[in-house]
Amino acid sequence: MLKIKKIGVLTSGGDAPGMNAAVRAIVRTAIKNELEIFGIINGYQGLITGDFKKMDRTSVANILQRGGTMLKTARSEEFRTHAGRKKAHAELKRHKIDALVVIGGDGTFTGAKIFEEEFSFPMIGLPGTIDNDLFGTDFTIGFDTAINNVVQAVDKIRDTAAAHDRLFLVEVMGRDAGFIALRSGIAGGAEDILVPETKTYINSLIDKLKNDRRKNKKSGIVIVSEGDDFGGAYDVAEEIKKRFDHFDIRVTILGHIQRGGPPTCGDRVLASTLGYESVMALLKGKSGVMVGQVDNKIAFTPFEKAIKQHQKMNKHLLEIARVLSL
Ligand code: F6P
Repeated sequence: MLKIKKIGVLTSGGDAPGMNAAVRAIVRTAIKNELEIFGIINGYQGLITGDFKKMDRTSVANILQRGGTMLKTARSEEFRTHAGRKKAHAELKRHKIDALVVIGGDGTFTGAKIFEEEFSFPMIGLPGTIDNDLFGTDFTIGFDTAINNVVQAVDKIRDTAAAHDRLFLVEVMGRDAGFIALRSGIAGGAEDILVPETKTYINSLIDKLKNDRRKNKKSGIVIVSEGDDFGGAYDVAEEIKKRFDHFDIRVTILGHIQRGGPPTCGDRVLASTLGYESVMALLKGKSGVMVGQVDNKIAFTPFEKAIKQHQKMNKHLLEIARVLSL
């Protein structure tokens, strides 16, 4: 087994609050275990261009509580090509780096899987995405902060919705996954939650709104996941307006505000734990796996499984949300 002496860490894909806490944990665990550690700037693109920065204990001071990522992040087109990955491998060899920890979501792990197989290069992944759509971890780093950001926004929107007797369609992130919508919808008391994991029956939504109106509900909030099969919040709003014009409707797209700000306590603890475990796993010879947490226990899942199987949505929560928004 290769004795690991030098490792690299990078963040890739959409940033997620808690990535900095993970980088801090990785750097400090590496130093504690007498490893040299390099931060790679700009994700896989920095691997290709050789943008490496030697890290010490103080390079990660005062970042635990910050959103974003001190290592920057990118979605690299060049890394999708064999030529790009060859350059990246050459840079790693030039710096004598023996293994990598990559923090990101499904795109990051797709790249990691190919690279690990192509060059037999030891790689460990950490789930860093607000979407919570990876199999092999109950929660991804950044998800808890994102849903709390959404809930705070929804609480504010509810004040103005009630003041004006308006219906708000609030669109949230999640690419192709509805986990942000589902959890924040329940916590924000949404009248309905539209997610890509279930078909959206617009007639049922309109019937529900009519019913709400009959019961004298004057305002409301519907959470729409950006990947919903019916369309975005504007499409849903238009359809409702066409078919039931008893509500004064407004649309709010929450956008990137969901990804910013200090990570919650939950995200900091998760990131610190998984960061520590990722270095320990490399030292024990593990590779090609994502380190996550399932039922409070550390779990290792092959990259392919983490990406392909997707996190299963607890659809019963949707039922509960509908009952509670009576
Ligand atoms: O994957 C994280 C995520 O925030 C998704 O929820 C969203 O669809 C996407 O990134 C947005 O990407 P970008 O920041 O490149 O616009």
